[in-house]
Amino acid sequence: MTLLFFSEVDRVDWWTGELNKAAPDIPVRAWPDVGDPADIRWALVWKPRHGLLASLPKLELILSMGAGVDHVFADPTLPAGVPVTRIVDPMMTAGITEYVLLHVLRYHRFLPVLEAQQRERVWKMRFDLHRLPAERRIGILGLGVMGADSAAKLAALGFAVAVWSRTEKTLPGVARFHGPAGLAPFLASTNILVCLLPLTPATEGILCAANFAHLPEGAFLINAGRGGHLVDDDLLAALDTGRIAHATLDVFHTEPLPVDHPFWAHQRITVTPHNAAISDPRSIVGQVIDNIRRLVAGRPLVNQVDTAQGY
Ligand code: NAP
Ligand code: GLV
Repeated sequence: MTLLFFSEVDRVDWWTGELNKAAPDIPVRAWPDVGDPADIRWALVWKPRHGLLASLPKLELILSMGAGVDHVFADPTLPAGVPVTRIVDPMMTAGITEYVLLHVLRYHRFLPVLEAQQRERVWKMRFDLHRLPAERRIGILGLGVMGADSAAKLAALGFAVAVWSRTEKTLPGVARFHGPAGLAPFLASTNILVCLLPLTPATEGILCAANFAHLPEGAFLINAGRGGHLVDDDLLAALDTGRIAHATLDVFHTEPLPVDHPFWAHQRITVTPHNAAISDPRSIVGQVIDNIRRLVAGRPLVNQVDTAQGY
């Protein structure tokens, strides 16, 4: 009964060290040292290589190392019927909220404009761009663990916050929209659009020209969801026309972002290397071990993913 760890981007020794500390009785193997595949009962993974999970004949549980699970479902050979869990971690949620606040405040206080002025040695107070927080409408796509925390913190700062989810929700102090019919009115009332959606067939490509057309002129975009939410060429076109004034992107179709991708050098795009929130094993291994022990004891899993919805 062994746990397999797979990630090609994380610090393997850090993770296996924290796992061993938290559960010395659970043997851990780190890919590529899989050993006998029949020993592996549980797999803790980030972007598993396609075919890896299918090659483990006794696999009973797939644990995503992150909040998102699209990287698991992307594997066309994913073994059917094996439960998938995801991470819900207060430190990760705080990381996303910090990222959202950082970039919302950057746009609210029009820092890119002031930075451009500095490069030109221009001293000009921008009364024309000044807005009160209540006059700045922040629209958050996704009202899950991440979206709800960002919405609450932005509302506490006095921003006019709206949220969009799949099902109807309640959240005090914010305007709520849901479902396909709610998307256009939600976008029409958004100055700064924040994407915190999971990537599923229903949300893929949602940041596209047709939806940008509903935004007011000169809107801002912050995408910390997934690269697959964005139609890259549609963003470049929207920046050209001024529909979108500036974009901050943490996630991309291909990661690392290829060196020749136009986003790198674009004057009105900020690129961050998928680090809005980091999966920190010190905070996360406890729930990984807990879910393994639950499975072994036949108790319900925590944060099990709804495979039909894909999140
Ligand atoms: P979550 O708790 O599962 O929440 C997902 C939210 O998206 C829910 O409000 C859900 O609506 C909504 N949603 C899903 N499909 C939808 C659809 N078709 N139409 C409208 N709304 C839809 O997820 P989370 O923990 O907040 O995480 C969200 C995502 O953030 C992750 O999947 C991941 O992609 C991203 N993330 C990125 C980073 C990073 O470092 N960049 C870190 C962590 C997470 P309902 O409430 O109606 O179900
Ligand atoms: C990171 O992107 C995650 O899904 O946790």
